[in-house]
Amino acid sequence: MEKIVVEGGHPLHGTVRASGAKNAALPILIATLLAPGEHRLTNVPELADTLSTLSLMGRVGCPSLMGPVVRLDTTRIAFHEAPYDVVRKMRASVLVLGPLLARHGEAKVSLPGGCAIGVRPIDQHLKGLEALGARFTLENGYVHGTAGKLRGAEIQLDMPTVTGTENILMAAVLADGTSVIHNAAREPEVVDLGRFLQSLGARIEGLGTSTLTIEGVARLAPGERPYAILPDRIETGTWLTAAAVTGGDVTVTDTDPELLRAVLAKLVETGCEITTTPTTIRCKGPDRPKAFRLRTDPHPGFPTDMQAQLMVVATLADGTSTITETIFENRFMHAAELLRMGARIEASGNTATIVGQPRLQGSPVMASDLRASAALVVAGLAAQGLTEVLRIYHLDRGYEQLVTKLRGLGARIGRVADDAHDPAVLRGALDASPDPTVPA
Ligand code: EPZ
Repeated sequence: MEKIVVEGGHPLHGTVRASGAKNAALPILIATLLAPGEHRLTNVPELADTLSTLSLMGRVGCPSLMGPVVRLDTTRIAFHEAPYDVVRKMRASVLVLGPLLARHGEAKVSLPGGCAIGVRPIDQHLKGLEALGARFTLENGYVHGTAGKLRGAEIQLDMPTVTGTENILMAAVLADGTSVIHNAAREPEVVDLGRFLQSLGARIEGLGTSTLTIEGVARLAPGERPYAILPDRIETGTWLTAAAVTGGDVTVTDTDPELLRAVLAKLVETGCEITTTPTTIRCKGPDRPKAFRLRTDPHPGFPTDMQAQLMVVATLADGTSTITETIFENRFMHAAELLRMGARIEASGNTATIVGQPRLQGSPVMASDLRASAALVVAGLAAQGLTEVLRIYHLDRGYEQLVTKLRGLGARIGRVADDAHDPAVLRGALDASPDPTVPA
């Protein structure tokens, strides 16, 4: 196991490329199950989660090749099970339910279980798929679904669940007749999945709105040209936040400002100078951020996946900020770690009050989930002295080449065995070779 070591106090400068969006790549890789044949995808980030998804596809009989152009052959589906050992590492595996039921008539997926940020049930997924004609039983921690030809239906979601919308959308495109999904998620990653499905021949109206209308078709086929995954808005926001807290000047390329308008507006409120072109965003951090109020909401509101990163900005702000988390019930674990760095944070229920301090102190901290771990790295970039972030397997799930990218911006950062404590070894890691190959 490894940890990240970062020496704070160096303003970040330069340009960094945003990789493709993990949360668009995962559903799109799985959606290839709907269209037998060879698929080609570009801008797929090389992450633990995307590699896990390709190995899951292999488990159902679809071989693939990772690379600048990812190739997937979904000509045949040999099995229909997503086993516990895969699902427990990656909840998004539940996305195989919709495609397997639509194309294969059967699917068996381990219940994902909760995770650090919340219980995260899949009741809406099952409700929507049952409305389309699937039948489910729960057996030994697995949800087992069977279906004949799915039939179009009207579905009202209790909340705009992202993967719930994606699962139901992927089933509806091959159903008989028309389906309407009300209270659908509007996240850009859902839109990208919809556009991918349209490239296979699916007929979908309303992408980006909360009402999706799907005309089922008899069959889908791989698109003519490789499909390019959209840029990762959360990775983009993470690098901009790093500029904000180090008083730096960072330009993110190969991104799209339209994907994270709420994040850009909040960074401007904290005193950042943001300039954009259609594919780049430049952020010049203030000497000291201003305090702010923030509330996470479904898209186009402020994304919950950027909440931890903005909390780091708040810990250094001139004044008192409040952050309200409305999506997940337990997404303040990073606060306890930031307290170790000298932050002043009080959380009660789903609201945190943060009294900004002039500086943070580097210290060993523990990552709890993907976005919290990125926030702790950002905090380390701003803190005085050395910060060690443990359990960075969370990071490898969602950030491609994180150490290499941050080094490219002038950060003093490296990876080292998590049992290394000798200061000489820790400092040596700041210059040693960055990111190894990604473990699946
Ligand atoms: C997606 O998770 C993302 N993951 C998450 O990103 C992101 O935080 C989340 O959407 C919210 O934007 C992927 O896209 C792979 P939800 P998802 O269903 O779909 C409740 C990251 O770091 N709910 O929109 O699982 C649920 O408990 C990850 O990349 C039900 O009650 O989130 C939560 O409170 C973390 N029943 C709320 O809805 C259901 O059937 C929103 O969850 C489904 C969800």
